[in-house]
Amino acid sequence: MRIDLDNVKALRELDSAGMLEAAWNLPEQCAQAWSLAQDPPLPQIADWRHLLVTGLGGSAIGGDLLRVFAADKLGIPVLVNRDYTLPWFVNRETLVFAVSYSGNTEETLSAYGAARERGTTVVAITTGGELGRRAADDGVPVVRIPTGIQPRAATGYLFIPMLGILERLGLLFGMEAEVTGVSAHLRELRGRYGPETPARDNPAKQLAANLQHRLPVIWGATGTTEVVAQRWKGQFNENAKAPAYWNVFPELNHNEVVGFEQPEDLLGRIWLIVLRDEQDHPRVRLRMKVTREMVKKAAGWTEVDSSGPTGLARVYSLIYLGDYASMYLAALAGIDPGPVQVIDFLKNELAKHE
Ligand code: F6R
Repeated sequence: MRIDLDNVKALRELDSAGMLEAAWNLPEQCAQAWSLAQDPPLPQIADWRHLLVTGLGGSAIGGDLLRVFAADKLGIPVLVNRDYTLPWFVNRETLVFAVSYSGNTEETLSAYGAARERGTTVVAITTGGELGRRAADDGVPVVRIPTGIQPRAATGYLFIPMLGILERLGLLFGMEAEVTGVSAHLRELRGRYGPETPARDNPAKQLAANLQHRLPVIWGATGTTEVVAQRWKGQFNENAKAPAYWNVFPELNHNEVVGFEQPEDLLGRIWLIVLRDEQDHPRVRLRMKVTREMVKKAAGWTEVDSSGPTGLARVYSLIYLGDYASMYLAALAGIDPGPVQVIDFLKNELAKHE
């Protein structure tokens, strides 16, 4: 049953896993995630030449956040691995974060095993599960994060500890101020996006209403909003149980943009959301403008700007908007945003075939 987005009681009743509450608590989660990274023993410092984050879904996106955020701060490249196996180059000179909220994701456990075999330095981030057990047995440092929410609602716990550990290892600096900036900005934004704020003043509810019965296609820009575009797509999938797609400028100008001629009935259902940031390359800004003129007759178009005092706060400002909009989109279709039965089913089916 369709829910009126201003009926807060109905929104909460529909939300069996407390997704709205977890989103509201994201500022505090970020602050706590920083503290959690301060205690675990550190691995022995080595002359690492690469950093690899291995995980899936909600546990992998923090790796992408790190990859983009650290591109102009870390002296070594960051690679995100969403697989059972590891790339050939991974060796003793690789620092590996093995990230799994549940600690039971088979691809991550397999990659963890491979990382140990190759003699890499591993740090685990998990609530426990099999990864927690294996790491404890292997003497691998573990950042233990609280259990009880969906992995995709734990983006603070799954990303920020990496900043804390990297700072303690002397590889990043000034991260506490970054995290404080994110928390403070999200605290402001939840007053705008949260369920108590009526639709007329709430950009997240307005965006959801706009996307109802449409196919969201989210376009970000490489180096600024690329991870947000991917995150929004995942949140529309997992929270609203709806299809969504993402891509990035400038690459999409070399292929995807050509595909707006037919079929007309499908194109008419597509709604493009373009994510913008003040650090977008000026030529990318121009591309967005020109592209809008090219596709606006075929599909809908909304532009969304990031806000906030720092690059990371700006990225989180957009993540937050997408998180809320996807939950409201679920509510508009009468769908519980929390459970992801399809993922659970797949994991259970796979578990039957050891
Ligand atoms: C569910 C979610 C999923 C999981 C993924 C991996 O909320 O976001 O994408 O993150 O299935 O599971 P974990 O995070 O437990 O390793």
